[in-house]
Amino acid sequence: MNEVLHAIAGRYSCRGFSGQPVSRADLETITRAGTQAPSARGNAPWYLAVVTNRELIGQIRDNAFEVLIRRDKEGHQRIVERGGDLFYNAQALIVVATRPTHDLTPAEFDAGLLTENICLAAHSIGLGTCICGYATNAFHVFRSPDGERFSRRLEFPYGYQMTVGILVGHPALSKEPHPADTSVVRFFE
Ligand SMILES: Cc1cc2nc3c(=O)[nH]c(=O)nc-3n(C[C@H](O)[C@H](O)[C@H](O)COP(=O)(O)O)c2cc1C
Repeated sequence: MNEVLHAIAGRYSCRGFSGQPVSRADLETITRAGTQAPSARGNAPWYLAVVTNRELIGQIRDNAFEVLIRRDKEGHQRIVERGGDLFYNAQALIVVATRPTHDLTPAEFDAGLLTENICLAAHSIGLGTCICGYATNAFHVFRSPDGERFSRRLEFPYGYQMTVGILVGHPALSKEPHPADTSVVRFFE
């Protein structure tokens, strides 16, 4: 198996990180890989805030968790069952923001490609990642106590919106990658 296929087959959502910090060099490597993703018309409609400040990560996590408690009982229960830490002790949080492109495909589609590039690049250098949709809750202007403040603190350019979070760290827990379900693939020859 070549290296790309090996990374794709081995990636999994890591839900337990050690306390070891992620180096700036590694974060630069994986975010660079992210920005090498394709995007519609080459728009590259993304902005990445790479957060390693413990206090700030904690504030984003706590705001997101508060929204979860109030608005998503099932999601809250799932996180409690996983140990209660929404960010699994991740030492870095990459906040992916996008601007609307008014293209045939939404900017979030492009952000998804960038996100998977980051996850695969991270996996290939021994880091764990977990895409974190719950992190978006923290940035919600009405629901989250500090929603607007985080976008300002992370210096989102005008018109950019929180799209998804990526937790990054050194894995303390691993799991088997989910099995590929190839039954959804049809060939027309
Ligand atoms: C858009 C998106 C949002 C996700 N949000 C979360 C999340 O908030 N918390 C979490 O633990 N996992 C989250 N995941 C991870 C999925 O649960 C996971 O990818 C899926 O169960 C398949 O498992 P695998 O990634 O280990 O193959 C998210 C995945 C995606 C693609």
